[in-house]
Parts: sequence; C-alpha cells; structure tokens
Amino acid sequence: MIGTAGDGRPISIAGLGCHVPERVVANAELETYVETSDEWIMERTGIRERRIAKPEEALSDLALPACRTALEDAGVGAADIDLIVVATVTPDMMFPSTAALLADELGAPDAAAYDLSAGCTGFMYALAQAYGMLAGGLAQRALVVGGDVLSKILDWHDRSTVVLFGDGAGAVVLEAVDDPGFLGFELGADGAGGMSLWLPHSGSRAFDGDSSRFVQMNGREVFKFATRILVQSAETILARCGASVADVDLYVPHQANVRIIDHATKKLGFPSERVVINVDRYGNTSSGSIPLALADAAADGRLKKGALVLMTGMGAGLTWGSALMRWTKETG
Ligand code: ACO
Repeated sequence: MIGTAGDGRPISIAGLGCHVPERVVANAELETYVETSDEWIMERTGIRERRIAKPEEALSDLALPACRTALEDAGVGAADIDLIVVATVTPDMMFPSTAALLADELGAPDAAAYDLSAGCTGFMYALAQAYGMLAGGLAQRALVVGGDVLSKILDWHDRSTVVLFGDGAGAVVLEAVDDPGFLGFELGADGAGGMSLWLPHSGSRAFDGDSSRFVQMNGREVFKFATRILVQSAETILARCGASVADVDLYVPHQANVRIIDHATKKLGFPSERVVINVDRYGNTSSGSIPLALADAAADGRLKKGALVLMTGMGAGLTWGSALMRWTKETG
C-alpha cells in the first residue's frame, strides 16, 4: 500500500521524546551468558552495547517518560490528545492495551487508545494510521508511541538472537500544521516469510513439539529480506512523491544491524553524513528504533526545520514501511 498526502489536512510531528532503561549491557557481559565475543558482534552487527530493562520494568514504564517528553516538546497537555497508538510486540500484557494504560497514566481520558502489532515496522504503521485519522479530521492531536522490551522474550542462552536486541521507547505528537509535514507512506507485508522471525506460543495457535517461548529467527533469511526491502521501499516512496535520494537531507533506517544499514545506504547512494546510525549504542530496539534515531538526530543538530526526512522500518511479519516528510518543527 502506498499513499501520498492528498487532499487531507497537512499533518506533521510537533513533539518528540524517547526513553531507554538505565542498565547498559556491553558485549563483554554477553560473553558471560553465551559463546560469543565482542569482536564477532562488532564485526557482524556493529552493536557495542544495548539497554536492558529491569525485571519489574514493562513497556509502559519506558513509554510514559517518552510520552511526557514528547508532550512537553510539543507544548501540549495530555488532555489535548484524542488518539494514542502504541506500536509494540511486547505490550505490558495482551489486554488491556498499553495505549489504554498510558492514556490513564498520562491523563488523557478522552483519547481513543489501542496497540498495533507490525514487528519492528510498528512505528511506521502507527505513524501512517495516525496521519490518516488526523488528515481526515477523525482526530485532532495524536500521540504515536513505538517501543519494545524484547529482552523479556529472548532466550538469553541463544547467541543467534540475544546479541542483536535492546529495549527502548520513543513517542511523537502529531497535529495539523500549515504546510506539510508528511508527504507519503509506503507500507507492506509478506506473511509468507513470517516464520523467519516469530514468537511461538504467543497467541491462540498451538505448536506441537516446539516448547520454546522465545524469539525464533532465521538470521540469514531476515538479512536477505532486510537488505532488499530497505532499498525497494525507499525507491518506491521517493518515486511516488516525485523526490530523489539527492533531495533527502536525513535518512533514518530501522536500526537492526550496521551491515544492513550500510548495504542500503550504499545501494541508494546516501553519503554517510546524511544517515542516522545509533544501533551501536542501543542494538535493535524494534518499534523504538526509528523514534530513538530521530531523537539522536535532533540532539546532534541534523534534524533541522525544513529538512526532507526519509524513514524506513522493516521487521517481523515480514513487514516494511517508509514515510517521507518535511520536518516542520524548530529543533535545537
Ligand atoms: N557469536 C559468535 N558466533 C555466532 C553468533 C554469535 N552471537 N551467532 C552465530 N554465530 C556463528 C554461527 O553459528 C556460524 O558459525 P558456523 O560458521 O560455525 O556455522 C557463524 O557465526 C556465522 O553465522 P551466520 O548466521 O552465517 O552469520 P551472519 O554473518 O549471517 O550474521 C546475523 C548473523 C548477525 C544474525 C545476520 O544474519 C543478521 O544480522 N541477520 C538479520 C537479523 C536481524 O536484523 N533481525 C531483526 C530484523 S527485523 C527486526 O528488527 C525485528
């Protein structure tokens, strides 16, 4: 599915916030849990360290401070929010939704609130949904959250997954603006590849003979998918919006692995100074990855008012999603 911003109201990001757990787990610590090495992890993934939640910390504990920062950054109160979408595969629980819990904790009693599951692409799907509701006038101001606590669903004895992921959450406030804002979205899903990255026993299907309750991944298949789709989705949305790589000021790819990002960057032709990379410090935070990367780019001064920003996520589903937007907010 692809759509360019059409006749609806122009919508943009008015506020941004993120939050990660305090505990830093460096590669050397992982060497004590599984047979791996800092050298292997750095060479194959570019990840140096990640943040890991405490046993008692759930997604809403990470998302709440991110939401508060985003609201403050936008200069609005929680009561001004009438839509909350939380993209995650690790909600506090299956129900009530983490979005409903956040609405209560923030003090947004009039907000529609629900969770959305699209793997690591969740934040892109949630942005597109909130955009559609705001552009169509169904809602006035939305809080879009992307976050995951994947450390809770990893087998800490499985070296093929445990080295890749970290915990974190980000949030943005979306509202109507004078000039766009979001220019278009491209979203897709390929369920045929779904079993390349999946969580057994996490829903209503029983799986005979498989007792694992942790993330299962075919790393090579996901790698092939990721390198192909990052390029394809970016090229599709740029062509549809009448833009080129040369027009894009900031490229914000899903932070899964430096090798995957490097591949897409080279193939698309982005110079490295226009690419946001923070996977070295956070690992793959799933739905938290793109908002965390946006927050880093805002902090280092690269996310400027007027910048053309291309974001692309990909992950479980298998799913993918891109957004092209003009950054309309003053930063720094
Ligand atoms: N430490 C040391 N050795 C390891 C580790 C580890 N953590 N993991 C695997 N190995 C070994 C393997 O057993 C294998 O050994 P062998 O040659 O003796 O059989 C060797 O290293 C090479 O393994 P490969 O799987 O071929 O390594 P590869 O270069 O493909 O890298 C990786 C593996 C990093 C997982 C890569 O495939 C990848 O990044 N895939 C994408 C994963 C991903 O990004 N998933 C999430 C994306 S979607 C989302 O964000 C939810």
